[in-house]
Amino acid sequence: MSYSIVLFRDTFDPLTRSQLVFARAALLRLGADVIFSPTYKGECPINIRANLLNQMVKKENVPEFKVDLFEAKGKGQYGIFESIRHINLLYPKAKIYVPLSGEGMIELGAEKLKKLSAIASILFVYVPGEKVDDHLLEIANAVRFPHGAVGDYQSKLNRDLKQCDLPPYVREAIESNDLYYLARMKNYVSPRRLIHCVSVANLAYVIALRAKIENPEAAYIAGIVHDIAKNVSEATSRRILAKYRPEVLDFPTWTFHQFVGPILAKEEFGIDDPSIAEAISCHATGKAHMIPLAKILYSADKIEPTRGFDSTDLIQACLKNYYVGFLTVLDANREYLTSKGYLIDNPLTKECFELYLGEKQ
Ligand SMILES: [Fe+2]
Ligand SMILES: [Fe+2]
Repeated sequence: MSYSIVLFRDTFDPLTRSQLVFARAALLRLGADVIFSPTYKGECPINIRANLLNQMVKKENVPEFKVDLFEAKGKGQYGIFESIRHINLLYPKAKIYVPLSGEGMIELGAEKLKKLSAIASILFVYVPGEKVDDHLLEIANAVRFPHGAVGDYQSKLNRDLKQCDLPPYVREAIESNDLYYLARMKNYVSPRRLIHCVSVANLAYVIALRAKIENPEAAYIAGIVHDIAKNVSEATSRRILAKYRPEVLDFPTWTFHQFVGPILAKEEFGIDDPSIAEAISCHATGKAHMIPLAKILYSADKIEPTRGFDSTDLIQACLKNYYVGFLTVLDANREYLTSKGYLIDNPLTKECFELYLGEKQ
């Protein structure tokens, strides 16, 4: 009986859900075992990436998924040809498939692709947004594989917080090791504030999933960066706002970070999703006619579990129905402000309370 192996060699920096989609599809369509082989170089240390792949094999519970650390242990001295030779020695009778993205092919170049196609079958996996050279596809005699995504391009989108296409255990590892986008957020906020941001992101994500909003990943991304401008000085905030949002310069200073936030998020991470920008720019004050993502971010920001009060009931309300939950959070917030004798000091909060809670202050 013939035996096939997909040598899935990638940075896995980090491992993405799309990569798992590819691996499962390859297993089903080609009847192949999939060997995950992390390459040595990456932003995240190789031991963490290797551990995560081993965890993945256990969690996904697919016996045909295997991890091979030949290249990882070679500390950068081995490449794709040595890797294939190594797999050949382990499984001399197996047919070997090698998945490559468009940029992966460009990186290898025509000559190496030709040599590669003599010892393995090349699967071309299209990654949206990536460059593709049709001439190289021909040289490689590549078979187009229509499912999932491979290559570092895909991982980079996740490192840079442009996507959050991550299995939950990978997201947890990023959060507990402050990797990638969290390492960058550390340049903006205190460790305590970062814990709050991660907590907001996770709660907002679950609420968004339950609410079935269009892009729940946006709730995670918005949660991570919503307080990015929290430590920006008043003078700097005024300078930025004078340029981009002069109409809010009369607002109280505690609101400034919500307006400066989207500008910094764009500058640091290139986040330009208008719904994320809108949600951040009213997360502290609220406003009238908030989009679903804004309601979810507002609620998650006020009730995330590390806030220091028992918010279990409010969290449950938001998980049950994000809109009703938002109204409950808003009402509790107004009650809190009134009990402390605080005046509503800006027009956005005023119009928000009026529209959603229906009473004049
Ligand atoms: Fe905030
Ligand atoms: Fe916050």
